[in-house]
Amino acid sequence: MSEAKAYLTRTAEFVHHELSTLSENWKGIPDRLKEAMRYSLLAGGKRIRPVLTIATTEALGVDGKCALPFACAIEMIHTYSLIHDDLPAMDDDDYRRGKLTNHKVYGEAMAILAGDALLTEAFHLLAQAAEKAELPTSIALTIIREAAQYAGARGMINGQVLDIENEQKIITLDELEEIHRRKTGDLIMYAVRVGALVAGASEEVLAALMTFSYQLGLAFQIQDDILDVIGDQEVIGKPVGSDENKQKATYPALLGLDESKQRLEICIQTAREAIETRDDLDPTRLLELADYLLLRDR
Ligand code: IPE
Ligand code: IPE
Ligand code: MG
Ligand code: MG
Ligand code: MG
Repeated sequence: MSEAKAYLTRTAEFVHHELSTLSENWKGIPDRLKEAMRYSLLAGGKRIRPVLTIATTEALGVDGKCALPFACAIEMIHTYSLIHDDLPAMDDDDYRRGKLTNHKVYGEAMAILAGDALLTEAFHLLAQAAEKAELPTSIALTIIREAAQYAGARGMINGQVLDIENEQKIITLDELEEIHRRKTGDLIMYAVRVGALVAGASEEVLAALMTFSYQLGLAFQIQDDILDVIGDQEVIGKPVGSDENKQKATYPALLGLDESKQRLEICIQTAREAIETRDDLDPTRLLELADYLLLRDR
């Protein structure tokens, strides 16, 4: 196993364990709702976003454990976005993370509510984590405000709206990049930002990490589009051909597979260049993760 894969596996297990324990202890939530929330949360995603948060904190010389609850909150936001993305009114998919989608098991109403609840619970967790870590108030408030910014109507939801509005349309590459940047890039950027903010990063390092994570986020969605064409359903845990069915605007649809792969490589190279020669952070782990994402098959 490569170093990056071993780190990803190990850190993902750490995140999974924390998510399992903290959600087991949720009190005052109706049984069926809690079951639906935990069904998707613990279904076993790759945990790329929380791993990026932790790896960023570590790259800045701070113990990754400090970032763990923040990382878990980000995975809760991501999981909510997947539950809603799969709904019949959205991408209408039946499988996710190798299991039936949330609405297939719990019904549409409960799936919508489980998504809503994971999103709001994430804000609770962010605030609680900031309090516990005794972060400076300005940093704590930035982390919470930016969750709304990157995941909300100006960020990820903006992207989801563009994604829907551009079904069955021929668009430019710039327009496509904007969809991907918003629907997927923004939460990945936020994941890296939180790791940096928890570690007390300077504005300068933060700026470099933003270039890195912007390119990484774009690369991540290009590979997601590619896997929707050539992936193995057993491995990716969700349907292949979903984008073609819905005539989504994707990189393979616009540029073909070969050029999509070239774009992906350029993104990863640009991401690398943003951090590889800096002496105010240790880029090793983040670079390994970037290279791993270039080749991922799930
Ligand atoms: C899928 O994200 C949706 C996108 C934004 C591309 P992931 O590929 O990270 O899904 P999980 O978390 O591993 O299931
Ligand atoms: C999903 O993009 C983006 C978000 C959930 C915000 P996709 O629709 O391509 O993700 P998958 O392929 O269903 O995981
Ligand atoms: Mg979608
Ligand atoms: Mg989808
Ligand atoms: Mg997809």
